[in-house]
Amino acid sequence: SYIVFNGELTKRDTISIDIEDRGYQFGDGIYEVVRVYNGRLFTWEEHVERLYASAEKIRMTVPYAKEEMKAVMEKLIEKNQLTDGTIYLQLTRGIAPRNHAFPGSDVQAVLVAYTRVSDRPVALMEKGADALVVEDKRWLHCDIKSLNLLGNVLAHQEALDAGCYEAILHRDGVVTEGSHTNISIVMNGTVYTHPANNLILNGISRKVMLKACDSTATSYKEEAFTVEQLLKADEAFITSTTLEITPIRRINNQPIGIEGEYKVIKKLQEAFTADIE
Ligand code: PDD
Repeated sequence: SYIVFNGELTKRDTISIDIEDRGYQFGDGIYEVVRVYNGRLFTWEEHVERLYASAEKIRMTVPYAKEEMKAVMEKLIEKNQLTDGTIYLQLTRGIAPRNHAFPGSDVQAVLVAYTRVSDRPVALMEKGADALVVEDKRWLHCDIKSLNLLGNVLAHQEALDAGCYEAILHRDGVVTEGSHTNISIVMNGTVYTHPANNLILNGISRKVMLKACDSTATSYKEEAFTVEQLLKADEAFITSTTLEITPIRRINNQPIGIEGEYKVIKKLQEAFTADIE
């Protein structure tokens, strides 16, 4: 299959990554996961805006124009004949002798992008996923989609080891987000989700979901909620590029609402689906 390497399409097995790539050594870089439905990029503008915003926050220069980036991603989809799947794309601060200091301005960011086939998670979206509440031990710049995912990885593995699908993170009892998703709850017909500040990633699917709230006349508040409120919620769900709107069935082995009913969630899922088509 083809990949994008530094702006050019090339076969995956023709490239190699330098051992002094700063992404590899320091996690010094940023990434995006973009959905492809029916051979077309979904919410590309939002993803590219977030990518450039992440770059700016870590003082990294993206050596490509946004339109250039889009054109090469479309070429990648076409070359790989991707219908439904994702594009993973990342930029690292480049290759230089290992040193914490930024390399000189002559060192260019390294871009890699590749595709993966994946269907919509229809079964999970209907049945729901189980989750485990885990302490959020990450740094205070979770709004940056950085390659440093160790905190997320450890939390997710803790959930998997407990037989769960996702970890729901909290700081001092206040729920922030999932290890690789955003989380929202429904209380008395209103959707609550953490405000998009430095403690969470401002998820694109979260935005599409809030748009679905508008189009279905569902009230919402971008307001944080506690673990206690989460466990008592009428409904709870996670959102992400790959999981869309997926209900949470049980948290810490405790059922959330009525299993399989997911009244508000189903309405939002329908509106989300309409957005894709
Ligand atoms: N995860 N929060 C975190 C910490 C995430 O890593 C993600 C995305 C989200 C949801 O964002 P979006 O709706 O823009 O996908 C929230 C990606 C898919 C991943 O790392 O695989």
